[in-house]
Amino acid sequence: MKAISVFNNKGGVGKTTLLCNLAAFLAMQREKRVLIIDADPQCNATQSVFRDSTIDDIYTNDRFTIYQVVQPLAAGKGYSKRLTTRKSTTFGVDVIPGDPRLALTEDLLATDWSQATAGSTRGLRTTFLFTNLLQRCAGYDFVLFDVGPSLGSINRSVLLASDFFVSPMSIDIFSLKAIQNTAISFKKWRQQLDGGLSLNEEPAELEVQDVRWKLRFAGYVTQQYTAKTDATGQKRAVKAFDEIMQQIPHVIDANFLPLEENPLPKDRYELGSIPTLHSLIPMSQTGRKPIFDLKSADGVVGAHFSRVRDYSKTIGGIADRLLDNLGRLS
Ligand SMILES: Nc1ncnc2c1ncn2[C@@H]1O[C@H](COP(=O)(O)OP(=O)(O)OP(=O)(O)O)[C@@H](O)[C@H]1O
Ligand SMILES: [Mg+2]
Repeated sequence: MKAISVFNNKGGVGKTTLLCNLAAFLAMQREKRVLIIDADPQCNATQSVFRDSTIDDIYTNDRFTIYQVVQPLAAGKGYSKRLTTRKSTTFGVDVIPGDPRLALTEDLLATDWSQATAGSTRGLRTTFLFTNLLQRCAGYDFVLFDVGPSLGSINRSVLLASDFFVSPMSIDIFSLKAIQNTAISFKKWRQQLDGGLSLNEEPAELEVQDVRWKLRFAGYVTQQYTAKTDATGQKRAVKAFDEIMQQIPHVIDANFLPLEENPLPKDRYELGSIPTLHSLIPMSQTGRKPIFDLKSADGVVGAHFSRVRDYSKTIGGIADRLLDNLGRLS
């Protein structure tokens, strides 16, 4: 099992949309067993893959969500032993639904992180919340974490538990700055974690095997630029975005690759590029279906069919490049 976080320290860059479609593609077209863990208190991944009746059932009847994973720990009762997932039939994946109450644990995780960095067993146990959860997810090929854009303590715990991260990028200066912030934070977290682990005297009490920093960068996807067909029939970013688009590989090289012990060749990190999808997005949201699987019954007519086909090729290319990178990095 490999755990992958889809992360960018900039909001609204298409993390959740990419994650849900990538998860569905790996499950439906590549026969992988996939679990989505919605670790964003906004719960957008949960809303994307389940119909309203399911959402009502989860939240009205207090069904199993990510909150049931964190609540016992927050109450001082140790790691939760429960793991219940829900199937999204349209996306072909299992899901641990998100929960707005996850936001309430941000403070606990922050306080316990400062203890963790001083070697405290309790602090480290709280920090390894998601690492412990993943030990119960061995039946999957991939676990994909959806997270919000912050570099706060919930995301730190999720990222510490993940084997890989993938970054969707919007083509603007803030995405470039977000890469720099992310690299600074990862470097600091890694040092702090190493420091805490070396001071801790009760490793057996942690109940997690995989405690060392293992997060590796698996690639980036450029998103939501305005694509136009040029004279040669190629889709390319409009000129205003070109300059920033060209800077992205350099900013990635300069910030993420120095964190890697054995980086891949630089040109392998670009997983693909997704154009603005216009009406396919609301169709997918209304039908709770992956974009590549939209049909006429979902409202696809005329030119939309070729857009769905184009998207299928794009997300397939991204998935296959990612699988290839994961194979090379493992
Ligand atoms: N390729 C696309 N073309 C057009 N709209 C898109 C595309 N990808 C995502 N969107 C829309 O952009 C908005 C932000 O996308 P999404 O929720 O996936 O971003 P996010 O990075 O997960 O946001 P957050 O940081 O809040 O979690 C959503 O309304 C989504 O439907
Ligand atoms: Mg999101």
